[in-house]
Amino acid sequence: MQKLIIKGKREISGTISISGSKNATLPILAASILANKVYLKNIPLVKDIFTMIELLNFIGLKIKISKIKKTIEITNNNNNINTLAPYKLVKTMRAGVLVLGSLLTKYGKAKVSLPGGCAIGTRPVDLHLFALKKLGAKIKIKDGYILAEAKKGLIGNTIKFPSISVGATENALLAAFYAKGKTVLKNCAIEPEIKDLIFFLKKLGSKITIKGRTLIIYESKLKNLNVAHEVIFDRIELGTYMIASALVAKNKIIINKINPKIVKSEIEVLKKIGIQIFQKKKSIIIKRVKKLKNINIVTRPYPGFPTDLQAQLMVLLTQVNGISKIKEDIFENRFMHVPELKRMGALIEIKDKSAIIKGPTKLTGAEVMATDLRASVSLVLAGLVAENRTIINRIYHLDRGYELLEKKLKNCKAEIKRV
Ligand code: UD1
Repeated sequence: MQKLIIKGKREISGTISISGSKNATLPILAASILANKVYLKNIPLVKDIFTMIELLNFIGLKIKISKIKKTIEITNNNNNINTLAPYKLVKTMRAGVLVLGSLLTKYGKAKVSLPGGCAIGTRPVDLHLFALKKLGAKIKIKDGYILAEAKKGLIGNTIKFPSISVGATENALLAAFYAKGKTVLKNCAIEPEIKDLIFFLKKLGSKITIKGRTLIIYESKLKNLNVAHEVIFDRIELGTYMIASALVAKNKIIINKINPKIVKSEIEVLKKIGIQIFQKKKSIIIKRVKKLKNINIVTRPYPGFPTDLQAQLMVLLTQVNGISKIKEDIFENRFMHVPELKRMGALIEIKDKSAIIKGPTKLTGAEVMATDLRASVSLVLAGLVAENRTIINRIYHLDRGYELLEKKLKNCKAEIKRV
């Protein structure tokens, strides 16, 4: 099994380019079932994307990927379509459940494995199914599978989500694509990745308007089923490297291929802590500041502070002066990194949904492991700022979502290697 070895306390400098967003690419790949031909640019070459491609292949789509150009060409000639998403593919990547909306609206039926829980919580799909039922789907759960049917097609409706879910909003948007009449989705997630999906669906001919957390999808004549699309940048990868720079930049780090307007809340939080950030049109410059202030923060759906950056921010808060508090309000079990950070010397206490972090503390290298993607990358950040050597096990989690992590850090003179 591969490990990462990091020699800490090495200052980093240089430029980091941000890859395309994994969480935007996954629903757009699911949406390509709706089209005839799709050409995607700025694809992140990470494990989850390859799993989704495997799933689309299984369904019957033809896929050509160029690793050099980071593009994918997908053809759906609608021959021999298998409206099934098997357990072996959905269990490793929950976003597989997003093919449900596309298959159901286009082919009138789908059998998709229930994704089950994962390290960060139970992660049900009740909100996905709630929306599909409101659009007229008949749904049964049998042998661990969702069996969905809409023989005469889905029918538009007004749906108010009882709580905000990224995946359920995406599945409902996909399902509404071929639905008859108008669909109104209320209390939706409005993450930039969802806006990118909407942008993609509009290119396919869908008429969608966004009013706050309400999305209106009009029945439209769908003619242009051949599209090209460039996926947006990965704002979580950007946030991760902003925090890495705040921790160990020699002087400054330039991060490019981004749009700073999309990460306002992250920039605001880092500025409150005392980090100096200079924004340009497509890049950001981060200056490390030695004296940092504590902060209290709650994770929230966009435009709030993202749960996907909670673990990374926690590492930074071990280095600030005073007591900070992070309340995790999205997932019920997302402090798996805390015991590992404590083994490296962090002073963190968990009380209900909150972590209380005492800073500043000297972190020291240790052998650690993590159980999910963002927790793993927080250990990389801790390794960068810790004294001595940190060994990170189970790095397959990192490979699910971070493209060229070691290379990007090594280019900035970090001492990190994979063994
Ligand atoms: C997506 C992101 C993930 C991010 C999360 C929250 C992708 C591929 N993944 O995950 O990186 O951490 O948004 O920003 O884009 N819930 C229900 N019932 C449902 C669906 C969700 O109760 O049917 C709950 C979840 O358990 C969780 C909360 O709603 O507590 C938010 O989850 P959701 O927004 O759905 O996350 P994902 O779409 O799975």
